[in-house]
Amino acid sequence: MQDPEYVKSAFARIADRYVVTNHVLSLGTDILWRKRVASIVKGWNPEKLLDIATGTGDLALEFQKVLPDCAVTGSDFCPEMLAYATSRGVQETLVADALNLPFEDNSYDVVTVAFGLRNMADYPKAISEMQRVLKPGGHLLILDFSLPTNLLREPYTFYLDKVLPHLAGFITQQPDAYHYLSDSIKAFPSGDNMKKLLESQGLIQPNHEELSFGVASIYTAQKSAG
Ligand SMILES: C[S@@+](CC[C@H](N)C(=O)[O-])C[C@H]1O[C@@H](n2cnc3c(N)ncnc32)[C@H](O)[C@@H]1O
Repeated sequence: MQDPEYVKSAFARIADRYVVTNHVLSLGTDILWRKRVASIVKGWNPEKLLDIATGTGDLALEFQKVLPDCAVTGSDFCPEMLAYATSRGVQETLVADALNLPFEDNSYDVVTVAFGLRNMADYPKAISEMQRVLKPGGHLLILDFSLPTNLLREPYTFYLDKVLPHLAGFITQQPDAYHYLSDSIKAFPSGDNMKKLLESQGLIQPNHEELSFGVASIYTAQKSAG
């Protein structure tokens, strides 16, 4: 679990290079992962969607593309990141802490978080806030990195520890922010542990889909309709 002041200042420092660094480090795969998320969410046909920890707005913009009639809101506690989301065209943005969302109960058809939950100080609290603002029957979706459980695990851990911080540090001039990325990925619950965490916050039908041989994962769950 993470120190919020450190996280906020780390993202403020890399905000201007965040989008390009993402695409370089993932060799563009993050674009495909967001498209997969958008296609799942499109199937739920939401009218009102909240993307928390929206950052520079990549996922919110993808939703606006595939769901032109859906009202999309992006929130984040780092104003420097959110300023990019606004200038890149996210319809509605709001500075807000995901651990204390300024939205009414039962407000959204879908609530999403991409590469954000892992950075939060309290995972159960963040999930319970997402659950609270979802309408009954609404859907929650989490996209984040995970550690592969297959043969890729060892080379990927080497990449996280030894290559990524130097490469990202060179691009952003902020190597410590990317040492932090490696540590946070290794500490983040994945697979069945994440499904249990979702259930512990009252969500039902948790599901896990691996992306790119387990380097990233999509988790979905629903708020009970009753
Ligand atoms: C890795 S970025 C992800 C941005 C975007 N969702 C994406 O997919 O590119 C993580 C974001 O989470 C935000 N964040 C971390 N903790 C937060 C919290 N408690 N409340 C709101 N935003 C938070 C950071 O400010 C940052 O913009």
